Amino acid sequence: MPIIDEAQVRAACAHNQKLNEAQFPHLNHSGNGVAKILADIDRIARLPLEEGTTLPREAYTSDAFHAWEIEHVFKPEWFCLAHVSQIPNNGDFINLELFGNPLIVLRGKAGEVRILSRVCPHRGMDIMPPAFGHDGHGPADWTEGKPGCGHTRLFVCPYHSWTFELDGRLKACPEMQGAKDFRRDDWGLKEFRSEVWHGFVFVNLDGQAPQSAAEQFSELGQDLAPWNPAEMSIVFERSWDVPCNWKILTENFMESYHHLGAHAHTLQPHMAARDTWNEQERPHHIRCHLPFRKSLRAKIAEAEANGKRADTFVVIPSLTEEQRLEWGLMLGFPLFTILPAPDQLVWYRIIPVGPNRLQLLTTVLVPNSTRDHPDFPEMLARGGEDAIGFHLEDMEVVTAVQRSMHSDGYQRGRLSHLEMSVWLIQRYLAARAHGTWPALDGNAAPAQHPPKS
Ligand code: FES
Ligand SMILES: [Fe+2]
Repeated sequence: MPIIDEAQVRAACAHNQKLNEAQFPHLNHSGNGVAKILADIDRIARLPLEEGTTLPREAYTSDAFHAWEIEHVFKPEWFCLAHVSQIPNNGDFINLELFGNPLIVLRGKAGEVRILSRVCPHRGMDIMPPAFGHDGHGPADWTEGKPGCGHTRLFVCPYHSWTFELDGRLKACPEMQGAKDFRRDDWGLKEFRSEVWHGFVFVNLDGQAPQSAAEQFSELGQDLAPWNPAEMSIVFERSWDVPCNWKILTENFMESYHHLGAHAHTLQPHMAARDTWNEQERPHHIRCHLPFRKSLRAKIAEAEANGKRADTFVVIPSLTEEQRLEWGLMLGFPLFTILPAPDQLVWYRIIPVGPNRLQLLTTVLVPNSTRDHPDFPEMLARGGEDAIGFHLEDMEVVTAVQRSMHSDGYQRGRLSHLEMSVWLIQRYLAARAHGTWPALDGNAAPAQHPPKS
């Protein structure tokens, strides 16, 4: 059972968001200071991990720095928005907002995945404006309980009824016969560069990424391949409005030092913080290992000898012995966050919406064969509860840390060797600030050897 109550966490997030916005607007450092923040990040990213320190707090609070990140970190890179299992049928779509862009992630008539703008090329209407709650969107059927998700054969702009095909082409537009030299073919919905990689749907908003997602993430792809995510499905998802900067959540996701505090009663008993370790620095991703404790390994060995290992879902047969005895953490830069476990993948879709705020979708993926297992409903009930349980503990931490960034009592902190990921994220940001690509622009930091416990 979760130790913290979900309803209480949601109320706390709303409360903290109000505090962030209403009381401290002067601390958002709007307008200035980006060069200073970047110089500071550059300085600390050059320090060895043993001398590592936290980012300047303005990196978590400044509107101007947030704007810099959108232009220099997020728009030029590949950003993961969905998994193909969320749009299984031709005509399925998901509406999303990404850095001021209303988007549709959809499966087209030939089964292809596309990412279109929702901005109508006529007078700029959002063709499916969120939260109005009416069905004036042509033939779309909306998915119960999942706002913005549905199925359609056409898109109809609710303003003047221009109609678009699933590939964005303008199909029909009433009363335009008087517009001189108007050609329907010139007026479709804009399509963004996208790619499906290992079943995940990525967008490159500025269209200028120097490599395809598959090329850029080839090393990460090798790490992920044993889970075969293209043949998995999202079986659980929950969305959260989180009052914190994306780096606070991502740093927290990627280090396991905090098992000692935040997860002392949930994760630490199974995966001791001191046993966790990072692989060597790589140009486009971070990988960490969270080995199970000896006591848990012994229990698993005994259960396996009796033919009944007690994981939440079915252990994935293609995994190596070691992969069956640990969790992992992966971050594909800038913000593709994955937690591989022996029986599942956890994927967090983190969408920054301001220096103090992000939209989060927490998901669990299992192999399609697990989804078809006769005991799957019971497995899922347990899996959902587990996924929420430790996440609620993280929500308390990230919300409180964001608030502290505004405090007169705030001090820059020093890093433990167990926070190597935090330091690697700083080095990625520093590289983006130099404009270097790939991110690694010096000698790679070596792996932390797996501790012998
Ligand atoms: S703005 Fe969409 S049809 Fe006019
Ligand atoms: Fe955590």
